Amino acid sequence: MAAFTDRVAIVTGGAQGIGKAICEALAAEGASLAIVDIAEDTAKATADELCAKGIKACAFQANVASAESVGDMVKAVLAEFGRIDILINNAGITRDNLLVRLKEADWDAVISVNLTGTFHCTKAVARPMMKARYGRIINIASVVGVMGNAGQANYAASKAGVIGLTKTVAKELAGRNVTVNAVAPGYIMTEMTHVLSEEAQQQFLQNIPLGRPGTPEDVANVVCFLASPAADYMTGQVLNIDGGMIM
Ligand code: NAI
Repeated sequence: MAAFTDRVAIVTGGAQGIGKAICEALAAEGASLAIVDIAEDTAKATADELCAKGIKACAFQANVASAESVGDMVKAVLAEFGRIDILINNAGITRDNLLVRLKEADWDAVISVNLTGTFHCTKAVARPMMKARYGRIINIASVVGVMGNAGQANYAASKAGVIGLTKTVAKELAGRNVTVNAVAPGYIMTEMTHVLSEEAQQQFLQNIPLGRPGTPEDVANVVCFLASPAADYMTGQVLNIDGGMIM
């Protein structure tokens, strides 16, 4: 039997990039998917693409930064699928600048989506998962949340916050068989990193022992492992997926 037969997964930011690869990898093991994204058209296109392959997938438009929007989304997912087994908190944004030039609005935006968004979605699924005495929550952090990165004070703080949130919620929900883990990707080829200057991309590459950028699939594979029965005895962990960047 496939690892996720009869399991329902919510993937935030699932319309493209790492989130889309996670949707595809979970679906390959039998999961039904709620593709949650602020970008309605892209989410629908991704859901259609998966449905065409015989996968049960639905798009749900939501802004993770809004508790109300997340509450409505979780209600809609429960109405559609009847259960939520897996939550992947993947939606994320960057608004990079050096500290002295960083606008408060850009600080707030990044914290609201990356950290508060993870809080909203986690809180919204916690009760149904606790009641079911089963849940797998995987948060997409970043190596930047562990090591810091010049020009990303807001992003690094949000991802460090996600790591603290992961460990705390792991402790609170462990008694109900809900595990909470995080992955910390390094430099992964997506729209998010596409915008980096050639110089910044080369600098990242020089610091990767495996000598190549990561792919969305590299991240999706580890996320799938953490959501699978093979990782049933792991909680509160942060796994780096970075080609050895911060070993
Ligand atoms: P991406 O920009 O390609 O995709 C992000 C998705 O999140 C988009 O579909 C976007 O519409 C959605 N989104 C943005 N704000 C949202 C909101 N308020 N509510 C709901 N959905 C929202 O980015 P990528 O690279 O796929 O990143 C995915 C996650 O991986 C992010 O959390 C990012 O911080 C993290 N990450 C990415 C790395 C990389 O090198 N690409 C490295 C480390 C972490």
